[in-house]
Amino acid sequence: MSGLFLTLEGPEGAGKSTNRDYLARQLEAAGLTVCLTREPGGTPLAERIRELLLNPSAEPMAVDTELLLVFAARAQHLASVIKPALARGEIVLCDRFTDATYAYQGAGRGLSQERIATLEQFVQGTLRPDITLIFDLPIEIGLARAAARGRLDRFEQEGHAFFEAVRQCYLARARADTARYCVIDAARPLSDVQQHIDTLVPSLLERLRG
Ligand SMILES: Nc1ncnc2c1ncn2[C@@H]1O[C@H](COP(=O)(O)OP(=O)(O)OP(=O)(O)O)[C@@H](O)[C@H]1O
Ligand SMILES: [Mg+2]
Repeated sequence: MSGLFLTLEGPEGAGKSTNRDYLARQLEAAGLTVCLTREPGGTPLAERIRELLLNPSAEPMAVDTELLLVFAARAQHLASVIKPALARGEIVLCDRFTDATYAYQGAGRGLSQERIATLEQFVQGTLRPDITLIFDLPIEIGLARAAARGRLDRFEQEGHAFFEAVRQCYLARARADTARYCVIDAARPLSDVQQHIDTLVPSLLERLRG
């Protein structure tokens, strides 16, 4: 595959979606074809699975059901969007991917990392993001930003310990692989965050063209 696979991660309200769109504009201005997508979802079928995952329902969802739905959506997304875009040589900007599974279903829900790794291998084979931007911020700030948007989804209704575990999992994964991960201080004003993103653009262009 000749494209570049970049994922944006971080807790609720960190600025992933805002900055994904900003980065896309910078890359398109430089002449690249960008594939803009998100998880869970990214295809009509996977978006239906997203609704199952995010909408609160009367029947509590078993943790294994949640994990399998996440990977079911991912299998569809990989097959119909991500792999074809990479094969066309595009840069894929994906709002959340498997790091979110390690963070939310692993650290948050308490599923073992080994279990997740088994499904990662099954669904993705050797495919991993080339670059992952972690938008890091104290969870209260992110939750306040998300709450200002309106009704909370099934994950946003979790408590402090859940989100702290999510945040720490992201940071630990970033520390373990500094070549792939870039941690961005997302608590700063948006203009500062976007200045940080600007500094990353030349190396992205070089990696795609070089
Ligand atoms: N650095 C920032 N400073 C202040 N507000 C911000 C900043 N970044 C984003 N916001 C605002 O915070 C809100 C959440 O941002 P955004 O939707 O991009 O976050 P997200 O990480 O995609 O959230 P979610 O995980 O819920 O999808 C938006 O209203 C956005 O305009
Ligand atoms: Mg978002």
